[in-house]
Amino acid sequence: MTGVIRGTGSCVPSYIIDNNALSQFVDTSDEWISERTGVKRRHIAAKETTVSMAAEAGRRALESAGLSAEELDLILVSTISSDVILPCAACEVQKELGASNATCFDLNGACTGFVLAYNTANAYLAGGICKNALIIGSECLSNLTNWHDRGTCILFGDGAGAALLQGVEGRTYRPVTHSDGEKGSALTLKSRHDCNGITKEINPLSMTDDAYFMQMDGQSVFKFAVRKVPEAIREVLDINSIRQEDVTWYVMHQANRRIVESVAKKLNEPLEKFPMNLQEYGNTSSASIPLLLDEMNRKGMLRSGDLIVLAGFGAGLTWGATILQW
Ligand code: COA
Repeated sequence: MTGVIRGTGSCVPSYIIDNNALSQFVDTSDEWISERTGVKRRHIAAKETTVSMAAEAGRRALESAGLSAEELDLILVSTISSDVILPCAACEVQKELGASNATCFDLNGACTGFVLAYNTANAYLAGGICKNALIIGSECLSNLTNWHDRGTCILFGDGAGAALLQGVEGRTYRPVTHSDGEKGSALTLKSRHDCNGITKEINPLSMTDDAYFMQMDGQSVFKFAVRKVPEAIREVLDINSIRQEDVTWYVMHQANRRIVESVAKKLNEPLEKFPMNLQEYGNTSSASIPLLLDEMNRKGMLRSGDLIVLAGFGAGLTWGATILQW
């Protein structure tokens, strides 16, 4: 048994901040952000929440798969920005959808989270533990972003993406995942506050300690990503005896255009095999891969039989790649 994606969905906030608007908050420019990252604008939650976006993305994935919520037996939400600590976001999504037969839990794998969620759901399906799994990446990173720090606030955005995985007879591809806790200090966050400083009221006390927002050594993370992601992709192709020319798409975590370009170059693959939408959404952490997959699906870019490599990297540090057949 293995999992195949039967449907996808996504949901992003309607409020958009472009680079020019951001330059009102911090000393930056559209030119700098575009050139160094590729990001042009990002969607920021005003009334949306991690759960509301996750539920809407999940509802759309169910619709696209033609399945009812009652048929779900697993809901897995990957997030680092859940609205509350308890109950978990997956249980809240269950409630919103009326998926009364599902087992629900969250997973914190940061920007590798969707790859880890896919692998976990696939293991459940391959093991016969469940038949229909809804996997969702949903993030409200604006709540965790220091809007006074130009080194980070230009990068991130909010949104959710979902995929409906169904167990069928077929080949299971072995994933590749790695972690290096020794290097965890490159990307940290001490705690969470429900204020993003743009669309919600700022708590002045919380702004006095930068550690309560995302802290990042951008250059270290950049170097880690451009070294480890191509290695993981080569490794996953190798252990599954798949040639690069058999891969139709590389759907990478959308962090920075230059990272994607570097990975394509190191693999000696055309950039056209690496679709991107980070210009529109910024880095949405565990939502970025399913958001992109859904966009590709809706545009009709995905054909039956296509081999797709998903690749993620991020805080932890964590990174990995997995192969799926459309
Ligand atoms: N606008 C204008 N100037 C900026 C700026 C901004 N938003 N951010 C930094 N700068 C300045 C710096 O102060 C520095 O100035 P200096 O030369 O006078 O000291 C200069 O630009 C270069 O800064 P640097 O940090 O070396 O830039 P960079 O090319 O490494 O780009 C990132 C910074 C954050 C865009 C880049 O490191 C990156 O994308 N890293 C990976 C981050 C990531 O993907 N994180 C998530 C992982 S899941």
